[in-house]
Amino acid sequence: MKKAVTLTSEPASAPINPAALIEADLVQVERRLSALLDSNEAQIGEICHYLIDGSGKRLRPTFILLVYRACGGGDASVRDPIDAAAALELIHSATLLHDDIIDSGLLRRGRPSAYARYGFGPTLVAGDYLFCRAFEICGRFDEPLVLTAARACIQLTEGEAMEGRMRHNPATSLDDYLAIITRKTASLFAAGGKVAADLAGAPPLLGEAMRQLGDAVGLAFQMIDDLLDILGPEEKIGKPVGSDLRAGIPSLPMVLAAEHNPDLRKMFQNGAAHDDTMFHRALDILRAPDIIARARELAAAQVARAREIMTALPSSPYCESLYALIDEQVRREV
Ligand code: FPP
Ligand code: MG
Repeated sequence: MKKAVTLTSEPASAPINPAALIEADLVQVERRLSALLDSNEAQIGEICHYLIDGSGKRLRPTFILLVYRACGGGDASVRDPIDAAAALELIHSATLLHDDIIDSGLLRRGRPSAYARYGFGPTLVAGDYLFCRAFEICGRFDEPLVLTAARACIQLTEGEAMEGRMRHNPATSLDDYLAIITRKTASLFAAGGKVAADLAGAPPLLGEAMRQLGDAVGLAFQMIDDLLDILGPEEKIGKPVGSDLRAGIPSLPMVLAAEHNPDLRKMFQNGAAHDDTMFHRALDILRAPDIIARARELAAAQVARAREIMTALPSSPYCESLYALIDEQVRREV
Protein backbone atom coordinates (compact mmCIF):
# COMPACT_ATOMS: atom_id res chain seq x y z
CA MET A 1 0.00 0.00 0.00
CA LYS A 2 1.18 3.52 -0.78
CA LYS A 3 2.39 5.59 2.15
CA ALA A 4 0.10 8.47 3.13
CA VAL A 5 1.68 11.89 2.64
CA THR A 6 0.76 15.37 3.78
CA LEU A 7 -0.25 17.88 1.14
CA THR A 8 1.32 21.00 2.59
CA SER A 9 3.85 23.11 0.70
CA GLU A 10 6.25 22.88 3.65
CA PRO A 11 8.83 20.10 3.87
CA ALA A 12 7.33 17.05 5.58
CA SER A 13 8.62 16.55 9.12
CA ALA A 14 9.54 12.90 8.54
CA PRO A 15 11.52 12.77 5.28
CA ILE A 16 9.69 10.81 2.60
CA ASN A 17 11.38 8.71 -0.04
CA PRO A 18 10.82 10.72 -3.24
CA ALA A 19 11.00 7.59 -5.40
CA ALA A 20 8.54 5.50 -3.36
CA LEU A 21 5.47 6.32 -5.47
CA ILE A 22 7.15 5.62 -8.79
CA GLU A 23 9.14 2.53 -7.80
CA ALA A 24 7.36 0.37 -10.39
CA ASP A 25 8.05 2.93 -13.15
CA LEU A 26 11.71 3.09 -12.13
CA VAL A 27 11.95 -0.70 -12.42
CA GLN A 28 10.70 -0.34 -16.00
CA VAL A 29 13.34 2.32 -16.67
CA GLU A 30 16.05 -0.05 -15.37
CA ARG A 31 14.78 -2.81 -17.67
CA ARG A 32 14.71 -0.46 -20.64
CA LEU A 33 18.21 0.80 -19.88
CA SER A 34 19.71 -2.62 -19.42
CA ALA A 35 18.17 -3.96 -22.63
CA LEU A 36 19.74 -1.15 -24.62
CA LEU A 37 23.31 -1.55 -23.42
CA ASP A 38 24.32 -4.75 -25.18
CA SER A 39 26.24 -4.32 -28.39
CA ASN A 40 27.56 -6.55 -31.17
CA GLU A 41 30.93 -5.41 -29.87
CA ALA A 42 31.19 -7.05 -26.45
CA GLN A 43 33.50 -4.40 -24.96
CA ILE A 44 31.06 -1.58 -25.68
CA GLY A 45 28.34 -3.45 -23.79
CA GLU A 46 30.74 -4.25 -20.97
CA ILE A 47 31.71 -0.60 -20.49
CA CYS A 48 28.10 0.59 -20.62
CA HIS A 49 26.98 -2.04 -18.09
CA TYR A 50 29.99 -1.22 -15.92
CA LEU A 51 28.89 2.40 -15.66
CA ILE A 52 25.13 2.03 -15.55
CA ASP A 53 24.22 -1.29 -13.85
CA GLY A 54 23.22 -1.03 -10.24
CA SER A 55 24.79 2.35 -9.53
CA GLY A 56 23.88 5.96 -9.96
CA LYS A 57 21.17 7.91 -8.20
CA ARG A 58 18.76 7.87 -11.17
CA LEU A 59 17.90 11.42 -10.21
CA ARG A 60 16.92 12.43 -13.75
CA PRO A 61 14.51 9.49 -14.30
CA THR A 62 13.00 10.09 -10.84
CA PHE A 63 12.52 13.77 -11.63
CA ILE A 64 10.94 13.10 -15.04
CA LEU A 65 8.57 10.43 -13.74
CA LEU A 66 7.45 12.58 -10.81
CA VAL A 67 6.87 15.64 -13.00
CA TYR A 68 4.92 13.47 -15.44
CA ARG A 69 2.66 12.20 -12.65
CA ALA A 70 2.41 15.58 -10.93
CA CYS A 71 1.24 17.08 -14.24
CA GLY A 72 -1.58 14.55 -14.37
CA GLY A 73 0.05 11.90 -16.57
CA GLY A 74 -1.69 8.55 -16.23
CA ASP A 75 -0.85 4.87 -16.57
CA ALA A 76 -2.21 4.42 -20.08
CA SER A 77 0.68 6.11 -21.82
CA VAL A 78 3.32 5.30 -19.21
CA ARG A 79 5.68 3.80 -21.77
CA ASP A 80 6.37 7.31 -23.05
CA PRO A 81 7.79 8.84 -19.84
CA ILE A 82 9.70 5.62 -19.16
CA ASP A 83 11.34 5.85 -22.56
CA ALA A 84 12.00 9.56 -22.10
CA ALA A 85 13.51 8.90 -18.66
CA ALA A 86 15.71 6.12 -20.07
CA ALA A 87 16.83 8.34 -22.95
CA LEU A 88 17.87 11.18 -20.64
CA GLU A 89 19.69 8.80 -18.30
CA LEU A 90 21.56 7.41 -21.33
CA ILE A 91 22.55 10.92 -22.41
CA HIS A 92 23.66 11.69 -18.85
CA SER A 93 25.69 8.46 -18.74
CA ALA A 94 27.32 9.29 -22.10
CA THR A 95 28.40 12.66 -20.74
CA LEU A 96 29.91 11.01 -17.63
CA LEU A 97 32.06 8.72 -19.78
CA HIS A 98 33.25 11.68 -21.84
CA ASP A 99 33.63 13.92 -18.79
CA ASP A 100 35.96 11.47 -17.05
CA ILE A 101 38.17 11.46 -20.14
CA ILE A 102 38.21 15.26 -20.23
CA ASP A 103 38.81 15.65 -16.46
CA SER A 104 41.13 12.62 -16.26
CA GLY A 105 38.65 11.34 -13.66
CA LEU A 106 39.97 8.01 -12.38
CA LEU A 107 37.33 7.30 -9.75
CA ARG A 108 33.56 7.40 -10.33
CA ARG A 109 30.83 6.17 -7.99
CA GLY A 110 33.42 4.74 -5.64
CA ARG A 111 35.36 2.59 -8.11
CA PRO A 112 37.75 3.03 -11.04
CA SER A 113 36.08 5.08 -13.75
CA ALA A 114 35.49 3.46 -17.14
CA TYR A 115 38.29 5.69 -18.41
CA ALA A 116 40.70 4.33 -15.78
CA ARG A 117 39.65 0.76 -16.44
CA TYR A 118 39.22 0.62 -20.21
CA GLY A 119 41.24 3.58 -21.45
CA PHE A 120 40.60 6.55 -23.69
CA GLY A 121 39.44 5.03 -26.99
CA PRO A 122 37.00 2.39 -25.71
CA THR A 123 35.48 4.83 -23.20
CA LEU A 124 35.02 7.50 -25.86
CA VAL A 125 33.30 5.05 -28.21
CA ALA A 126 31.10 3.67 -25.40
CA GLY A 127 29.96 7.25 -24.67
CA ASP A 128 29.15 7.75 -28.35
CA TYR A 129 27.25 4.46 -28.31
CA LEU A 130 25.11 5.48 -25.32
CA PHE A 131 24.40 8.81 -26.95
CA CYS A 132 23.22 7.09 -30.15
CA ARG A 133 21.09 4.63 -28.15
CA ALA A 134 19.42 7.61 -26.46
CA PHE A 135 18.49 9.15 -29.79
CA GLU A 136 17.34 5.78 -31.05
CA ILE A 137 14.68 5.98 -28.31
CA CYS A 138 13.94 9.64 -29.05
CA GLY A 139 13.31 8.66 -32.67
CA ARG A 140 9.96 7.17 -31.74
CA PHE A 141 8.66 10.50 -30.45
CA ASP A 142 7.37 13.57 -32.30
CA GLU A 143 9.72 16.30 -33.49
CA PRO A 144 9.27 18.72 -30.52
CA LEU A 145 10.52 16.13 -28.02
CA VAL A 146 13.49 15.21 -30.21
CA LEU A 147 14.31 18.92 -30.57
CA THR A 148 14.11 19.48 -26.81
CA ALA A 149 16.51 16.59 -26.21
CA ALA A 150 18.87 17.64 -29.01
CA ARG A 151 18.99 21.23 -27.78
CA ALA A 152 19.80 20.07 -24.26
CA CYS A 153 22.70 18.07 -25.71
CA ILE A 154 23.92 21.10 -27.65
CA GLN A 155 23.88 23.04 -24.38
CA LEU A 156 25.71 20.22 -22.58
CA THR A 157 28.54 20.33 -25.07
CA GLU A 158 28.68 24.12 -24.95
CA GLY A 159 28.71 24.08 -21.15
CA GLU A 160 31.58 21.61 -21.14
CA ALA A 161 33.44 23.70 -23.71
CA MET A 162 32.90 26.90 -21.72
CA GLU A 163 34.12 25.20 -18.56
CA GLY A 164 37.21 24.07 -20.47
CA ARG A 165 37.79 27.64 -21.65
CA MET A 166 37.56 28.95 -18.07
CA ARG A 167 39.83 26.32 -16.52
CA HIS A 168 42.52 27.84 -14.27
CA ASN A 169 41.00 31.25 -14.93
CA PRO A 170 40.74 33.04 -11.56
CA ALA A 171 38.67 35.82 -13.14
CA THR A 172 35.72 33.45 -13.66
CA SER A 173 32.76 35.35 -12.25
CA LEU A 174 29.64 34.03 -10.56
CA ASP A 175 27.72 34.85 -13.77
CA ASP A 176 30.24 32.84 -15.82
CA TYR A 177 29.83 29.98 -13.37
CA LEU A 178 26.04 30.13 -13.61
CA ALA A 179 26.26 30.14 -17.43
CA ILE A 180 28.46 27.03 -17.32
CA ILE A 181 26.27 25.00 -14.97
CA THR A 182 23.04 26.13 -16.63
CA ARG A 183 24.35 24.48 -19.76
CA LYS A 184 26.39 21.54 -18.51
CA THR A 185 23.95 20.31 -15.84
CA ALA A 186 20.65 22.19 -15.66
CA SER A 187 19.90 21.86 -19.39
CA LEU A 188 19.17 18.13 -19.10
CA PHE A 189 16.91 18.59 -16.07
CA ALA A 190 15.12 21.46 -17.84
CA ALA A 191 14.57 19.27 -20.91
CA GLY A 192 13.32 16.47 -18.63
CA GLY A 193 10.78 18.76 -16.96
CA LYS A 194 9.46 20.08 -20.27
CA VAL A 195 9.27 16.64 -21.92
CA ALA A 196 7.54 15.10 -18.88
CA ALA A 197 4.90 17.85 -18.80
CA ASP A 198 4.31 17.60 -22.56
CA LEU A 199 3.95 13.83 -22.39
CA ALA A 200 1.41 14.24 -19.57
CA GLY A 201 -0.63 16.51 -21.86
CA ALA A 202 -0.05 19.59 -19.68
CA PRO A 203 -0.87 23.02 -21.16
CA PRO A 204 2.12 24.89 -22.70
CA LEU A 205 2.38 27.30 -19.76
CA LEU A 206 2.81 24.42 -17.31
CA GLY A 207 5.32 22.83 -19.68
CA GLU A 208 7.40 26.01 -19.54
CA ALA A 209 7.07 26.10 -15.74
CA MET A 210 8.37 22.51 -15.56
CA ARG A 211 11.30 23.49 -17.78
CA GLN A 212 12.11 26.24 -15.26
CA LEU A 213 11.67 23.76 -12.43
CA GLY A 214 14.24 21.48 -14.05
CA ASP A 215 16.59 24.40 -14.46
CA ALA A 216 16.33 25.30 -10.75
CA VAL A 217 16.75 21.68 -9.62
CA GLY A 218 19.75 21.21 -11.92
CA LEU A 219 21.45 24.37 -10.68
CA ALA A 220 20.92 23.41 -7.02
CA PHE A 221 22.20 19.91 -7.74
CA GLN A 222 25.41 21.12 -9.37
CA MET A 223 26.07 23.71 -6.64
CA ILE A 224 25.87 21.05 -3.96
CA ASP A 225 27.96 18.72 -6.11
CA ASP A 226 30.67 21.39 -6.19
CA LEU A 227 30.47 21.78 -2.44
CA LEU A 228 30.68 18.04 -1.80
CA ASP A 229 33.74 17.91 -4.03
CA ILE A 230 35.69 19.92 -1.46
CA LEU A 231 34.02 18.49 1.65
CA GLY A 232 34.09 14.79 0.80
CA PRO A 233 34.76 12.37 2.30
CA GLU A 234 35.89 10.23 -0.62
CA GLU A 235 33.96 7.16 0.63
CA LYS A 236 30.74 9.16 0.44
CA ILE A 237 31.22 11.11 -2.79
CA GLY A 238 32.81 8.22 -4.66
CA LYS A 239 35.66 10.31 -6.08
CA PRO A 240 38.78 11.96 -4.63
CA VAL A 241 38.19 15.07 -2.54
CA GLY A 242 39.25 18.25 -4.37
CA SER A 243 38.95 16.77 -7.89
CA ASP A 244 37.66 20.08 -9.27
CA LEU A 245 40.59 21.95 -7.73
CA ARG A 246 43.06 19.45 -9.18
CA ALA A 247 41.47 19.73 -12.62
CA GLY A 248 41.40 23.56 -12.48
CA ILE A 249 37.60 23.62 -12.74
CA PRO A 250 36.01 26.92 -11.65
CA SER A 251 33.64 25.32 -9.14
CA LEU A 252 31.27 27.33 -6.94
CA PRO A 253 33.54 27.48 -3.85
CA MET A 254 36.47 28.52 -6.05
CA VAL A 255 34.51 31.28 -7.79
CA LEU A 256 33.25 32.62 -4.43
CA ALA A 257 36.61 32.43 -2.65
CA ALA A 258 38.90 33.60 -5.46
CA GLU A 259 37.10 36.92 -5.75
CA HIS A 260 38.61 38.18 -2.46
CA ASN A 261 41.77 36.10 -2.18
CA PRO A 262 44.75 36.98 -4.42
CA ASP A 263 46.75 33.99 -3.04
CA LEU A 264 44.05 31.55 -4.04
CA ARG A 265 43.74 33.19 -7.46
CA LYS A 266 47.44 32.62 -8.04
CA MET A 267 47.26 28.99 -6.86
CA PHE A 268 44.25 28.33 -9.09
CA GLN A 269 45.95 29.91 -12.09
CA ASN A 270 49.20 28.00 -11.61
CA GLY A 271 47.50 24.68 -10.91
CA ALA A 272 47.44 23.79 -7.21
CA ALA A 273 47.54 20.08 -8.07
CA HIS A 274 51.28 20.06 -8.77
CA ASP A 275 52.24 20.81 -5.20
CA ASP A 276 50.67 18.89 -2.31
CA THR A 277 51.17 21.67 0.24
CA MET A 278 49.65 24.22 -2.09
CA PHE A 279 46.74 21.89 -2.86
CA HIS A 280 45.88 21.52 0.83
CA ARG A 281 46.27 25.24 1.46
CA ALA A 282 43.88 25.98 -1.38
CA LEU A 283 41.45 23.32 -0.13
CA ASP A 284 41.48 24.91 3.35
CA ILE A 285 40.63 28.31 1.87
CA LEU A 286 37.76 26.80 -0.10
CA ARG A 287 36.45 25.14 3.07
CA ALA A 288 36.17 28.38 5.02
CA PRO A 289 32.79 28.47 6.82
CA ASP A 290 31.67 31.66 5.07
CA ILE A 291 32.37 30.16 1.62
CA ILE A 292 30.46 27.00 2.48
CA ALA A 293 27.59 29.07 3.89
CA ARG A 294 27.39 31.26 0.76
CA ALA A 295 27.46 28.25 -1.54
CA ARG A 296 24.67 26.62 0.48
CA GLU A 297 22.67 29.86 0.37
CA LEU A 298 22.92 30.01 -3.42
CA ALA A 299 21.76 26.39 -3.69
CA ALA A 300 18.95 27.07 -1.21
CA ALA A 301 17.84 30.04 -3.33
CA GLN A 302 17.42 27.69 -6.30
CA VAL A 303 15.45 25.30 -4.11
CA ALA A 304 13.21 28.18 -3.02
CA ARG A 305 12.77 29.14 -6.70
CA ALA A 306 11.85 25.53 -7.48
CA ARG A 307 9.29 25.44 -4.69
CA GLU A 308 7.76 28.70 -5.93
CA ILE A 309 7.48 27.32 -9.49
CA MET A 310 5.82 24.22 -8.11
CA THR A 311 2.87 26.24 -6.86
CA ALA A 312 1.68 25.98 -10.50
CA LEU A 313 1.06 22.27 -9.90
CA PRO A 314 -2.11 20.89 -8.34
CA SER A 315 -1.58 19.27 -4.93
CA SER A 316 -0.95 15.56 -5.14
CA PRO A 317 1.20 12.89 -3.52
CA TYR A 318 3.51 13.13 -6.56
CA CYS A 319 3.86 16.84 -5.99
CA GLU A 320 4.78 16.10 -2.38
CA SER A 321 7.42 13.60 -3.53
CA LEU A 322 8.81 16.24 -5.89
CA TYR A 323 9.12 18.64 -2.95
CA ALA A 324 11.01 15.95 -1.07
CA LEU A 325 13.29 15.30 -4.05
CA ILE A 326 14.06 18.98 -4.37
CA ASP A 327 14.70 19.54 -0.66
CA GLU A 328 17.00 16.54 -0.68
CA GLN A 329 19.28 18.45 -3.06
CA VAL A 330 20.52 20.80 -0.36
CA ARG A 331 20.69 18.15 2.37
CA ARG A 332 22.34 15.38 0.39
CA GLU A 333 25.77 14.03 1.29
CA VAL A 334 26.45 12.04 -1.91
C1 FPP B 1 29.91 16.37 -15.09
O1 FPP B 1 30.23 17.52 -14.37
C2 FPP B 1 29.72 16.70 -16.55
C3 FPP B 1 28.61 17.20 -17.10
C4 FPP B 1 27.43 17.47 -16.28
C5 FPP B 1 28.50 17.51 -18.57
C6 FPP B 1 29.51 16.83 -19.45
C7 FPP B 1 29.27 17.14 -20.89
C8 FPP B 1 30.05 16.66 -21.87
C9 FPP B 1 31.22 15.79 -21.61
C10 FPP B 1 29.74 17.03 -23.29
C11 FPP B 1 29.47 15.79 -24.11
C12 FPP B 1 28.04 15.74 -24.38
C13 FPP B 1 27.34 14.69 -24.89
C14 FPP B 1 25.95 14.98 -25.30
C15 FPP B 1 27.85 13.30 -25.04
P1 FPP B 1 31.33 17.49 -13.23
O2 FPP B 1 32.69 17.24 -13.85
O3 FPP B 1 31.16 18.71 -12.42
O4 FPP B 1 30.84 16.25 -12.38
P2 FPP B 1 31.69 15.10 -11.73
O5 FPP B 1 32.30 15.72 -10.53
O6 FPP B 1 30.66 14.05 -11.40
O7 FPP B 1 32.70 14.63 -12.73
MG1 MG C 1 34.07 15.64 -13.85
